[in-house]
Amino acid sequence: MIEIKQLVKAFDDGTTALKGIDLKLNPGELTCIIGPSGCGKTTLLKHINRLISPSEGDILIKDVSVYDQDVVELRRSIGYVIQQIGLFPHMSIAENISVVPKLLKWSDEQINERVDEMLEMVNLEPDTFRDRYPLELSGGQQQRVGVARALVGDPEIILMDEPFSALDPISREQLQDQLKALHKQLKKTIVFVTHDMDEALKIADRIVILKEGEVEQYGTPDDILQNPKTDFVKSFIGKDRMSRFLKTSHKTVKFYQDWLIPNQPDGNQYEIDASETLQSLTELFVEKQYDVAKVTDGNKVIGYLTKDAFIKALASERGDLDE
Ligand SMILES: Nc1ncnc2c1ncn2[C@@H]1O[C@H](COP(=O)(O)OP(=O)(O)OP(=O)(O)O)[C@@H](O)[C@H]1O
Ligand SMILES: [Mg+2]
Repeated sequence: MIEIKQLVKAFDDGTTALKGIDLKLNPGELTCIIGPSGCGKTTLLKHINRLISPSEGDILIKDVSVYDQDVVELRRSIGYVIQQIGLFPHMSIAENISVVPKLLKWSDEQINERVDEMLEMVNLEPDTFRDRYPLELSGGQQQRVGVARALVGDPEIILMDEPFSALDPISREQLQDQLKALHKQLKKTIVFVTHDMDEALKIADRIVILKEGEVEQYGTPDDILQNPKTDFVKSFIGKDRMSRFLKTSHKTVKFYQDWLIPNQPDGNQYEIDASETLQSLTELFVEKQYDVAKVTDGNKVIGYLTKDAFIKALASERGDLDE
């Protein structure tokens, strides 16, 4: 959906912020761009909505170059949460959120309805917050308004530049959870800049690791944790996080083969492959309430995993974690 081709950006003072970036970001995915300060994250993001023009290269959205699109239309079709929130201090929260709808000439009624809908979406009580001014909100609440404003025109693409960086850890976790839930619900293509690896691992479908204007690695969180390509990626992930992760999420059903029972027990059952991880089965057993899963390895049935055995296995993993 967003295709970045050989993107180079040299600023006038000779700083080359991007040194030939090639990336294809998938539609509907949440991609995190991560890397140390000054590696080019913001510069890359600003190319997508043409706030910065490249020295070389191109960006295509749905196969059309952003340079062949009307720049005003383009920016309206892309939500943007900037690094310092950027609410207008002299405008109420409702006015801040309705900047784009006003440009689009929606009716007042439509705008008011949509503003309230957006406030609810980011968990701010409309009656309380609609008429306040940005300075009357906490940092976290302001960041929520920033997100509401980016979503209001229902854009297909949303760019977010370290939107949660100024928050305390608890508000940050909350907003991450909410963003994840919103993303699941709305299926937007989101490009999210962060320099926090835990944040990226938590919310991303895919992660781009940038170093000095170049892509070091692009892959799913699992990919990156299991096969870090360079020493830089390894050091960026950190040893602790890697071993903790490998211990928890990657034990497959096959690893717990001894826990399987050979004969088919009673109860509603489901077929799974031995390569599935325990984590991925949580939904099946906990939400869908299956009692047992028939486990196949290739074409062969290797046994049956009961819900009880699953819970025990999971608990033993958690035990590892707490060590
Ligand atoms: N307008 C500009 N003129 C010259 N150099 C610039 C300009 N904007 C950014 N740079 C330089 O380009 C490089 C990348 O900057 P960028 O803002 O993209 O970094 P970043 O990865 O977003 O960093 P941070 O995590 O600190 O926000 C830096 O070396 C920066 O100094
Ligand atoms: Mg930045």
